[in-house]
Amino acid sequence: MSQSQPTTSPPAKPPAGPVARYWRAGWLVAVLSAVCIALLAEQFYCYYPSRMGPEQPIAFSHRLHFTDKTVNCLFCHSGALDTKHAGIPPLETCMTCHRQIITDHPQIENLRRHYEAGQPVAWERVNDLPDYVFFDHSAHLAAGKDCSQCHGDVAGMDRVYYYERFQMGFCVQCHRDNNASHDCLTCHR
Ligand code: HEC
Ligand code: HEC
Ligand code: HEC
Ligand code: HEC
Ligand code: HEC
Repeated sequence: MSQSQPTTSPPAKPPAGPVARYWRAGWLVAVLSAVCIALLAEQFYCYYPSRMGPEQPIAFSHRLHFTDKTVNCLFCHSGALDTKHAGIPPLETCMTCHRQIITDHPQIENLRRHYEAGQPVAWERVNDLPDYVFFDHSAHLAAGKDCSQCHGDVAGMDRVYYYERFQMGFCVQCHRDNNASHDCLTCHR
């Protein structure tokens, strides 16, 4: 029995000439642009709003205070130097400047009303660890860590947002990298 031969030869591969290369490049550009557009849209609709922290009762802007004035973080968050908590400054700290600066600005009038009534401003918390986790600012400052490693570029923020969700892996990874303790009881006591 003779085997039947195919009547037509298989189609020849198209020549991989310059035209084909242009076609392939065209596809690549189209796919890449689609990916870029998708990423930009994601950035705009999902990422951006969550990158704006909660609205605060008084519109205190870190960015504004850091572009206009180079006030050190520790001027207001001095607790970080020697205690567990960095702390939120009392209104007295704001008044050291705002007794003189833009006193007729509505936000500053509001600030002064709170101050004179001895009524603290109810700032919204941004970062909050669960109670079963122990954290201490001063230990990290003593070890030479910078605020930005955990809080990002606060000096560039109008409304402070959380930079890190402070999941266990984030803490433990840095402890590993720095040969700091990753014994469970360091953070869970
Ligand atoms: C003039 C005083 C002042 C200075 C200086 C200042 N802060 Fe603040 N900070 C505040 C006030 C008031 C709040 C609470 C309102 C808010 O969240 O904006 C706050 C909130 C924060 C929070 C969020 C706290 C939370 O609820 O978790 C972080 C983080 C923070 N500051 C970091 C910094 C860092 C880092 C610097 C230096 C780059 C800095 N701050 C400088 C006054 C200040
Ligand atoms: C070291 C001085 C200084 C301290 C301390 C300070 N501010 Fe200011 N603040 C300024 C300056 C300077 C401006 C900009 C003034 C201008 O626009 O002419 C400003 C502007 C503002 C404004 C107006 C923002 C706007 O939208 O125009 C608000 C609100 C404000 N500060 C709140 C606070 C609060 C709340 C605190 C305390 C947590 C504080 N400031 C501490 C110097 C200070
Ligand atoms: C190693 C990470 C780390 C570094 C470095 C760090 N923080 Fe924090 N910060 C945290 C965590 C975690 C919390 C939440 C603490 C909690 O809920 O008990 C926090 C909370 C805060 C708060 C809210 C109030 C408070 O004390 O809980 C402020 C304000 C703050 N940090 C400012 C600063 C400033 C300013 C610096 C630099 C001088 C700094 N932090 C450095 C991790 C860090
Ligand atoms: C940027 C790196 C870094 C990050 C992020 C970090 N740590 Fe640390 N941590 C250190 C270093 C370094 C030490 C100091 C080790 C030493 O002094 O031996 C330390 C020490 C500690 C200590 C011991 C303090 C004491 O009293 O001796 C605790 C508790 C702690 N970290 C908890 C945390 C928790 C909880 C987080 C996450 C919310 C965290 N750390 C995130 C670097 C980091
Ligand atoms: C450097 C600090 C650090 C160390 C060391 C650490 N943890 Fe944690 N752990 C955290 C933080 C921060 C959280 C909170 C995570 C969150 O809020 O999602 C956490 C959460 C947890 C939770 C709750 C998990 C959940 O999903 O709700 C358990 C369980 C836990 N840790 C067990 C351990 C054990 C077991 C060890 C030792 C092998 C350990 N941790 C060591 C920081 C630490």
